[in-house]
Amino acid sequence: MSDYPYAERFTVNRQLPEHGRDRAEILAELQQMAVEEDSSWETGQVSGSYYCGDREHYDYMTKAFGLFGHVNALQRDVCPSATKFEGEIIAMTLDMLHAEAVTDTTPAGIVTSGGTASITHAMLAYREQARDDRGIIHPNVVKPESAHAAFDKACHLFGIELRVAPINPETGIVELDAVANLMDDQTIAIVGSACTYGHGVVDPIAELGQLALSHGTGLHVDGCLGGFILPWGQELGYDIPLFDFRVPGVTSISADIHKYGYGLKGSSVLAVRDKALRNSQYFYLTDWTGGKYCSPGMDGSRSLGLLAATWASMVAYGKDGYLSHAKAIFSTADKMKAAVNSHSELRIIGAPTFCFAFTSDLFDIYHVNDFMRLRGWRFNGQQYPNSIHMAVTGPQTQPGLAEKFAADLDEAVQYGIERKDEPAGSAAIYGGVSGGITDEVDEFIKVVMADMMDTQQSLPPLV
Ligand SMILES: Cc1ncc(COP(=O)(O)O)c(C=O)c1O
Repeated sequence: MSDYPYAERFTVNRQLPEHGRDRAEILAELQQMAVEEDSSWETGQVSGSYYCGDREHYDYMTKAFGLFGHVNALQRDVCPSATKFEGEIIAMTLDMLHAEAVTDTTPAGIVTSGGTASITHAMLAYREQARDDRGIIHPNVVKPESAHAAFDKACHLFGIELRVAPINPETGIVELDAVANLMDDQTIAIVGSACTYGHGVVDPIAELGQLALSHGTGLHVDGCLGGFILPWGQELGYDIPLFDFRVPGVTSISADIHKYGYGLKGSSVLAVRDKALRNSQYFYLTDWTGGKYCSPGMDGSRSLGLLAATWASMVAYGKDGYLSHAKAIFSTADKMKAAVNSHSELRIIGAPTFCFAFTSDLFDIYHVNDFMRLRGWRFNGQQYPNSIHMAVTGPQTQPGLAEKFAADLDEAVQYGIERKDEPAGSAAIYGGVSGGITDEVDEFIKVVMADMMDTQQSLPPLV
C-alpha cells in the first residue's frame, strides 16, 4: 500500500498519457477528490483557511472565473474589463481601509496573488523608494517577532536586513521600546500586524505610526488576516484599535481577499497611502527586442478569471454582507473564548477577537490538541510558548459548533491534567499542527522539513 495520495484508486501520471483521456471521466475523478477533501472542513472543526464555507458563493465565483479564466490580464486592449475589475477591487479596499482620511497624497494599490505576495511587493517598494529618495543602500526593516514569516522571506529575497523586536508574552503585542532601539537611519520600514497570525492580536499601530513619522520611515500594517474582517468588527462595536489609513504614519496595508474577503484563493490587495510608493516597484525595460516591457508587479501573465471572481465576490457581499458574516463570526468566537476562559488551567494570549490562541501554564497545550484531534478538530499551532489557535470562520458559525467545542474542550483539559508530566504527541508546524515533529535542534528540523517538501513534490518510487 502506497502513501502517495490516491495511488490505489487513480492512475499515477509519470508521463503524459499517450492518448488524451475522456473529460467526463477526469471530472468524475476530480469530483471524488474534491468532495472527500471538502468533507474534512465542512464539519466546521477546522481553524481558518475555509473562510466563507458557502457552497453557493463558491459556485458563483467559479462561474465568474470561468468566463475569464483563459484571458491574460496583461492584454488590456482586448480585455478592458481587467482595468474595471482591478481598479474597483483596489478602490473598494481603500474605501474599507478609510483612505478618505488621506488628504496630502494619492492612495493607491496593487492586486496580488496572496498575503505573502502583498508583503513582498511592499518590502520591494520600500527598498526601491528608499534607495531612490534617501540613498539607502543597506536597508533594514524592523518587525515584531510575531509578524508573519513572509516578511523574513521578502527580506531574504531582496537583500534587506531584518531586525526582530520581541513581543510581550502576556499580550502578544510588540514591545515599542525594542522597535525604537532597533531603528536607525537605514530603516526603510517598520511593521505592525492587525492582527497577528499566531495570536490574533493587534499591535499598537498608533504608537508605531508615531515612531515611523518621527524617523521619516514607512509603517506597513499587515492586515492579511484581519484586514477584511476587523473593519466590520469595529462597526459592530468591538474594542479594536484603529489600524488603517486614519492612523497617521501608516503608509501601507496588506489585506487578503482570499481570507475574510471570501474570494477564491489567489487574491489580496497591497494598499498604499501614497501612489509613489507603489510606483517605485514598477518595472520597465524599454529597449528589449520583445517590445517595450513594463509591469506593475512581480508577475507577468495573470488570469483575468481571478480578478473577475475577486471583484464578483466583493460586490456580491457588499458592506451589509460583510457585516452580517462578521457578526456571526465574532459572536461564535466570543462563545469559544468563553469556553476557554471557563478553565483556570487555560490562558488566552492577549486580547484577541475573531482569532484567538490559548496556552496552559499547567501542561503542554499540545495535549489538548492531541485530544481535540481525536474529536475532529484541527487547530493551528504556535511555539515559544506553545499555544494553539482557532481562526473562527464561516463554517464554525453553524448551529451547535461552539457548544461542541466547549464540550470537547472540557474533556481535553482533563486529558491534559492527567498527562501534565508527559510530553505531548503533536507540535507546531505552520498552517496546522503535526504529530512526529518535535522541538529538536534547528538543523535537524530543516532536514525533516526539506524531506517533507520533497515528498510533497515527488512521485512514489517505482516498485
Ligand atoms: C497575518 C498574516 N500575514 C500574512 C499571511 C500570509 O498570507 P498568504 O498565506 O496568503 O500568503 C498570513 C496567512 O495566514 C497571515 O495570517
